Amino acid sequence: MQEQPLNIPEGSRKEVMTYLEPFMLNEMSEYLKPVEQMWQPADFLPDSSRSTFFEEVRDLQESAKELPYDLVAVLIGDTITEEALPTYESWLMMVDDVDKNEQGGWMKWVRAWTAEENRHGDLLNKYLYLSGRVNMREFEMSTQYLIQDGFDIGTGADPYRNFIYTSFQEIATNISHRRVSGISKKSGDKLLAKMCGVIAADEARHAKAYMSFISKAFTVDPSEVMLAFEDMMRKKIVMPAHLLRQSGELQGQTFAHFSDAAQRLNVYTALDYVDILKELIADWKIDKVSGLNEQGEKARDYLMKLPDRLIRLADRIKIPELEYKFKWIY
Ligand SMILES: [Fe+2]
Ligand SMILES: [Fe+2]
Repeated sequence: MQEQPLNIPEGSRKEVMTYLEPFMLNEMSEYLKPVEQMWQPADFLPDSSRSTFFEEVRDLQESAKELPYDLVAVLIGDTITEEALPTYESWLMMVDDVDKNEQGGWMKWVRAWTAEENRHGDLLNKYLYLSGRVNMREFEMSTQYLIQDGFDIGTGADPYRNFIYTSFQEIATNISHRRVSGISKKSGDKLLAKMCGVIAADEARHAKAYMSFISKAFTVDPSEVMLAFEDMMRKKIVMPAHLLRQSGELQGQTFAHFSDAAQRLNVYTALDYVDILKELIADWKIDKVSGLNEQGEKARDYLMKLPDRLIRLADRIKIPELEYKFKWIY
């Protein structure tokens, strides 16, 4: 049954977020699994207590040798992005109009989500350390820089913009981890393929959760959610690691090279950006949202036309063919 829009003053989210809170609590178990049932990095990595440890590390390094240079760069950038989790957690804690009660739905969700994400960086970091291909000090400096530099993702403290952003981002990370997994498999690194596969599956679940929050918000505050979606897309969704840098560089100086490597490998491209937008438009049934005010209708028009416009722009993007030399990689 279609729910009736709540009668809320324009720009006020509090009532909507209070309405969403029990939903978050109830649905959480569907999107986040109990800790004991989840995979842990130790399930995939050589166990240093076993006598076969060094042999296993040697095997790991043998397979890692065959990975393309650009792939190692992308993997490092992905790992740094995952390791910058403290930034995202503190950002989500700043969102307005949500109940900051420790046992409330919002706080529980943020903590549980962070705990899940934390494994991604853990797993990839240990793999990279063992692989023998990475200058760990350079990589670690970039991680420290990224957490220190933070980001500006254009959402402000608005819960709608934040959920729209995270919906987009979780789909994007699902795509990129999945593609890295595929390329690793082709290059003969089955372990890395498996690792990125399980991470991708987590991201898909997270995407579903954030998308469901927005779906629910659309039923009660359609115009404001539509305007928030339009605004985020006008600003363009930036990657959480957009300020990525290596030592001795300025904020964001490395990001473009990392992104070029991802485009060259077809791990994440401008067309993927459009596909994610299309997926969100379809999932949130943007064409069918009812109860929109005039501004909301205009925002919908903009959004419905946007994928075609972006496809035309994507055709014109030229990616440098030459691999960039990163300090991270030996
Ligand atoms: Fe992640
Ligand atoms: Fe995620």
